[in-house]
Amino acid sequence: MNILITGANRGLGLGFVQHYLAQGDSVWACCRSDPGKLSDIHARHLYPVKWDIATDNGPHGALPDSIDLLINNAGIYGPGKNGQSLDNITASAMLEVFNVDCVGPLRVVQQVKNRVIAAKGVIANISSKMGSSADNTSGGTYAYRAAKAGLVIVSKSMAVDLAPFGVHVITLHPGWVQTDMTHQTGLIGVATSVEGMTQVIANARNYAGGEFIAFDGKIVPY
Ligand SMILES: NC(=O)c1ccc[n+]([C@@H]2O[C@H](COP(=O)([O-])OP(=O)(O)OC[C@H]3O[C@@H](n4cnc5c(N)ncnc54)[C@H](OP(=O)(O)O)[C@@H]3O)[C@@H](O)[C@H]2O)c1
Repeated sequence: MNILITGANRGLGLGFVQHYLAQGDSVWACCRSDPGKLSDIHARHLYPVKWDIATDNGPHGALPDSIDLLINNAGIYGPGKNGQSLDNITASAMLEVFNVDCVGPLRVVQQVKNRVIAAKGVIANISSKMGSSADNTSGGTYAYRAAKAGLVIVSKSMAVDLAPFGVHVITLHPGWVQTDMTHQTGLIGVATSVEGMTQVIANARNYAGGEFIAFDGKIVPY
């Protein structure tokens, strides 16, 4: 399979890269600038691509004509600690997080959708339970919640629009994972999350298009 992953230089993105390379797939691993630990992987079927999804510049590097799986993984949390409380959240923080977490995956799909259509492939958009209204009992975290909720909705529209072309789109929640984003405080490690999400992706067509699914296969109400 030809697989394109954004935000592939660390955290869950790097975990996806390692998983699919070990499975013998060809991986186009996108990162915005610093390739990080990607540089330590010497695999014949690993193709690094520079892609900052916060801009309209598109990818720097060749992409395959057909893409079997696109994982829109890149994302930011925005201001930490109390920075996303009702009193502290700013318009610029809201817009920055929305630009990366919601508009970013849309940009990527606009750029590569014909290649995914060529393979009648799958698109997995990585959102978060934080973007679920049904799950929101603690409030706050305005920018991240809104951007990830927006991504769930965008992902559903993509699912509807691309279904006639044989492309299946799902939305994923990775769990609370020990990565830089959570300052390594999550409940599960990258390997467990990636193992679960790749299982869901392998069975993507058993789920309705646009469905929001956690790493353990459970549906996330939104
Ligand atoms: N960890 C969790 O518990 C958790 C829970 C729910 C959802 N998620 C979601 O899972 C995804 C991966 O998160 P993670 O925990 O692995 O986070 P992470 O360790 O902070 O990694 C984030 C990745 O996204 C990349 N990125 C950020 N902005 C980018 C941009 N403008 N263009 C391209 N790449 C960009 C980063 O690249 P740089 O190295 O260049 O910054 C990095 O590779 C995110 O969408 C996140 O919201 C994570």
